[in-house]
Amino acid sequence: MKKQLNDQVALEAAASHSYLAMASWAELAGYQGTASYFYAQSAEERDHMLRIVNYMNTIGAGAVIPKIDKPAAASFKSVEDLIETALKNEQAVTKAIHKMAQTAQKGGDYATFDFLSWFVKEQVHEEAQFEDILQKFDTIGRDGVAVNEIDKILGARNGGGGTGTAAPAAPDAA
Ligand code: FEO
Repeated sequence: MKKQLNDQVALEAAASHSYLAMASWAELAGYQGTASYFYAQSAEERDHMLRIVNYMNTIGAGAVIPKIDKPAAASFKSVEDLIETALKNEQAVTKAIHKMAQTAQKGGDYATFDFLSWFVKEQVHEEAQFEDILQKFDTIGRDGVAVNEIDKILGARNGGGGTGTAAPAAPDAA
């Protein structure tokens, strides 16, 4: 369980780093809405990481702060590409969370199982929001005007609280 939780700390840190690279890419490419959206996503992922660090230290499991690899920012091609990459990211995170929940349940670790339920719900929300954005490329389009429109939508979402719903509460001792 402890190894899985530490792996998750690393996964959330990598997600935060990856979204930061996406935000920076978008900013340089002139997509201000997308940039602010991904800056907010990056901050959220850091919150997720802190939740786990906090929880592990509270139960005496000793969180390990990981080294983070450099994200592949140079290979980003478009705003749609960012969203597709982010969705794949989230799907991998969901799998890892579900695996942890299974381990916790099988091991009778109900405290950790309960702790993870917030993440299970959060992943449903996160996958849905990226799927929703991806759909917009089908409905609005992929030409310059359409992508600018989607960029504005992303910027407005961020202004509305980052992910379209209330931002997660600050990490606590769980
Ligand atoms: Fe922390 Fe987006 O999963």
